[in-house]
Amino acid sequence: MRISFVHTKGGVGKTTSSILLATAAVNRGISIEFFDTDPQGSATRWAEVAEQRGDSLKFTVEQLGASQLRTRPGTDGWQIVDTPPGQAREIQAAIDTADLVIVPTHPSPIDIDRVWPTLDTLTHRMVGVLLIGVHERRRLYRETREIFESQGVATFYNFVPEREDIKNLFGSNPNNLYTFNEICTEILEIEEDV
Ligand SMILES: Nc1ncnc2c1ncn2[C@@H]1O[C@H](COP(=O)(O)OP(=O)(O)OP(=O)(O)O)[C@@H](O)[C@H]1O
Ligand SMILES: [Mg+2]
Repeated sequence: MRISFVHTKGGVGKTTSSILLATAAVNRGISIEFFDTDPQGSATRWAEVAEQRGDSLKFTVEQLGASQLRTRPGTDGWQIVDTPPGQAREIQAAIDTADLVIVPTHPSPIDIDRVWPTLDTLTHRMVGVLLIGVHERRRLYRETREIFESQGVATFYNFVPEREDIKNLFGSNPNNLYTFNEICTEILEIEEDV
């Protein structure tokens, strides 16, 4: 199954979340191909720095362009695709070839407002909104989920907490996966239903 992290807004946590999810999946015994389609190469750089430090990621990160992504055959495991922000061709290729699109967003009105145009581009794809950077503001989290659900947009039951430690994960093989084990379980359940 191909899982693409997509949001036209930058800095919402696509790269961080995709690396954490891929690590959680490998720990479950799921084989992972990780595709970095961001020309900025943040995930690729993450893997390089981790390797230099002797703390390599548990999967390899390949840089792929839009047409390579379109022609790359699927596997029995998961293919996780990190995408750039904006309007890049890579984003459309990641959407068109995905079995599941994950849209990470902060649970704040200004960020939620930016999700709708992204969702408009996702017609016919299975989509899950993943709430990121949730403090103890459970009420905001609940309200945000309700807004999406009322519009027929599925949200992950588990959210990603806001943690300073998560910011320091860049360039390392993450040990603490926060809620990504649970998010991995949710995706496995989705996969069973497909
Ligand atoms: N759950 C979190 N808690 C705290 N900080 C986070 C969390 N997730 C991501 N961040 C931080 O937010 C910033 C943006 O994250 P990241 O680079 O993963 O976003 P992105 O959507 O891939 O950005 P871009 O669009 O530029 O590729 C980084 O500093 C990262 O460490
Ligand atoms: Mg990124």
